Amino acid sequence: MKLADQLLEQIREHKALVGVVGLGYVGLPLVREFCAAGFRVLGFDIDPQKVAMLKAGKTYIRHLPAAHFKSLIDNDRFEATTDMQRLSEPDAILICVPTPLDKMREPDMTYVVNTTRQIAAVLRAGQLVVLESTTYPGTTREVMKPVLDGTGLRVERDYFLAFSPEREDPGRTDITTRDIPKVVGGFGPQSRKLAVALYGEVVAQVVPVTSCEVAEAAKILENVYRCVNIALVNELKLLFDRMGIDVWEVIEAARTKPFGFQAFYPGPGLGGHCIPIDPLYLSWKARQYGRPTRFIELAAEINTLMPEHVVNRVAEALNEQGKALKGSRVLVLGLAYKRDVDDVRESPSVTLIELLQARGARVEYHDPFIPSGKPMREHKITHLRSIPLTPANLKKFDCVLIATDHTNLDYEMVCKHAALVVDTRNATARVRRPRARVVKA
Ligand SMILES: NC(=O)c1ccc[n+]([C@@H]2O[C@H](COP(=O)([O-])OP(=O)(O)OC[C@H]3O[C@@H](n4cnc5c(N)ncnc54)[C@H](O)[C@@H]3O)[C@@H](O)[C@H]2O)c1
Repeated sequence: MKLADQLLEQIREHKALVGVVGLGYVGLPLVREFCAAGFRVLGFDIDPQKVAMLKAGKTYIRHLPAAHFKSLIDNDRFEATTDMQRLSEPDAILICVPTPLDKMREPDMTYVVNTTRQIAAVLRAGQLVVLESTTYPGTTREVMKPVLDGTGLRVERDYFLAFSPEREDPGRTDITTRDIPKVVGGFGPQSRKLAVALYGEVVAQVVPVTSCEVAEAAKILENVYRCVNIALVNELKLLFDRMGIDVWEVIEAARTKPFGFQAFYPGPGLGGHCIPIDPLYLSWKARQYGRPTRFIELAAEINTLMPEHVVNRVAEALNEQGKALKGSRVLVLGLAYKRDVDDVRESPSVTLIELLQARGARVEYHDPFIPSGKPMREHKITHLRSIPLTPANLKKFDCVLIATDHTNLDYEMVCKHAALVVDTRNATARVRRPRARVVKA
């Protein structure tokens, strides 16, 4: 029997061992889905702390309960390891490692390259390798394939290669990983058939496309679309604000149109591992083809200005109350980049804190999910501690700046006890007759 047919049979009978490389926000939900479908999963991470925590039943991502993964480990459905020699064991390897930007704001492919090298060191005939990390079109072919080919094994004959972008939305509860259609592009027909078969066992719908490049480009298009539309409403927010029109009310009205309009919301700036970063992967690649990506550049320009705009609004609002930003006490509500998650990557809250401090404000924060500042590549926030959100604490501040609209925060209480509230998320919309002055920004 051919290697591809053997693997196909193993997949259909759920006998294939699935390897997941990178046990983070994307990798762990994937582990959960494959285990739920009846596959055994071997998880890999270079971070020994994460592997130890999983084994001990401790959580490092708030919305993914550790007890679930511990029970999978105890029942021999899932094993986590740092031993990359064991990459020879899985029949299918799914790669979910970071794809950040480097110091020059260009794609940092070191995680993808290192993982590919680790796989190449032990690659055996009959394995399927799928990249899930978000990246520019061409990565699977130009970055991964040459390294894997270096083993002497031939793609489509000895090993199989595909790209299938992860579309996880951390913290979302109304749509599960299983419900999100999976776009799959293979390096060739064998690779595509195998990857389509594998994902077909765990998600409700698989969307096969003709190449890895199409699948890579589809994911980037999704994120560019979000980035550009968020920039559009951010720009309109500034204009409508000048005109005395509430942008939030405008969007609520516009979204009643049953076709041709999708609502996007303004905010204090872009955050997370995807939207601020992925479009720059495409604009970087576009330079190789001599084509401009003006929408991406313009969106980045507008979105990047937002924290500065918010800080100016805080300064103006304080000024109206006869206070200077310098020396004022500001409480930033929410350190996470979006509601109900504990993820601070690229969070605009961190930029807001730094800008406020640079202008002489005394800043503290409250976030129910982040008790203290986490290590970040470009910011030093580990010394920060979340202070309790109490009436007494609220009264100590000259301004409360709502940067993240966590659902379980008591905005009534905030507007009752704060002297001034600057709201970047429309979180106070439902507060009736706030005692504090509320300024939207
Ligand atoms: N977080 C999201 O919302 C989201 C959504 C869709 C797609 N993505 C994409 O998925 C990818 C992963 O993102 P994430 O949020 O899960 O990142 P993450 O940082 O939460 O997890 C990545 C993990 O990979 C591990 N790792 C790094 N190098 C490794 C190696 N050589 N071998 C084994 N493990 C290694 C890290 O220790 C980390 O635990 C990125 O490309 C991202 O753009 C993320």
